[in-house]
Amino acid sequence: MRLSGKTALVTGAAGGIGCATACCFAAEGALVILSDCNHAGSLEVQDTIIKKGGKAAVIVADVTRESEVVRLFSETESSFPALDVLVNIAGGDHEPVADIESIDYDRMSKNLDLNLKSTILCCREACRIMKPQGYGRIVNMSSMVYRGSPGQFSYSAAKGGVFSFTRSLALAMGRYKITVNALAPALVDVPVFEKVLGSERWKAMAEEAAERYPLQRIATPDDVAKAALFLASDDAEFITGQILEISGGARL
Ligand SMILES: NC(=O)c1ccc[n+]([C@@H]2O[C@H](COP(=O)([O-])OP(=O)(O)OC[C@H]3O[C@@H](n4cnc5c(N)ncnc54)[C@H](O)[C@@H]3O)[C@@H](O)[C@H]2O)c1
Repeated sequence: MRLSGKTALVTGAAGGIGCATACCFAAEGALVILSDCNHAGSLEVQDTIIKKGGKAAVIVADVTRESEVVRLFSETESSFPALDVLVNIAGGDHEPVADIESIDYDRMSKNLDLNLKSTILCCREACRIMKPQGYGRIVNMSSMVYRGSPGQFSYSAAKGGVFSFTRSLALAMGRYKITVNALAPALVDVPVFEKVLGSERWKAMAEEAAERYPLQRIATPDDVAKAALFLASDDAEFITGQILEISGGARL
């Protein structure tokens, strides 16, 4: 078990990738703190983990609100003996637009708040706990769009910002034995796509992407969870400031 005795906080834990990551970490022996703004969804993930013999707790929080992030980490600090791992997964694209003229200020702000500012805030609070421990593993969620994506202007800027921030934090935290890395998945098969796009549009989009990727399929949530597990584990103890592309070879 690669996370035996560790406490791991996963944000976005009720979502497709968050759920897979939380379940994978619990199966590897971690006590997982599931955080999401979706309470019912978080309880379902907790139930799944506990039924399989794992350990999980739920702390609901909206990571776009500073006061909620502060509360999330102070509850974590007072309820658990340590915070060994943080995986910042909460996120999403709220402004897919075809052209730059269509950018809407509020949607752009939402993308930056949800994907970038929330990551910085959660890392700030986690480092406050991890620094005195002299140990920590932080895994942030970027995306392959960090390389640029026409039509995803503010989302790609936010995910690119996550990568730059990850490197800056890695430079600052190395001396405390805290590693900070980022994940960059290409298209992942999560339920939210079918819900938003409808099954026909989603199927066409997934097939088109699979044809372009050298490995001829899109990612599963488990592909991402396994990469998160590697970076969260002591197998990656000398790796920091990196972005790990989980892309089936796309955009090489
Ligand atoms: N699915 C993909 O193709 C893909 C590719 C690259 C990167 N990503 C990134 O992976 C992460 C997870 O995405 P997913 O595909 O699992 O989508 P998802 O929608 O299933 O999961 C996102 C989760 O974040 C939660 N969330 C949203 N806003 C929140 C807030 N303000 N506070 C707390 N929780 C909030 C949602 O409730 C949801 O459970 C996101 O950061 C996304 O940008 C996804």
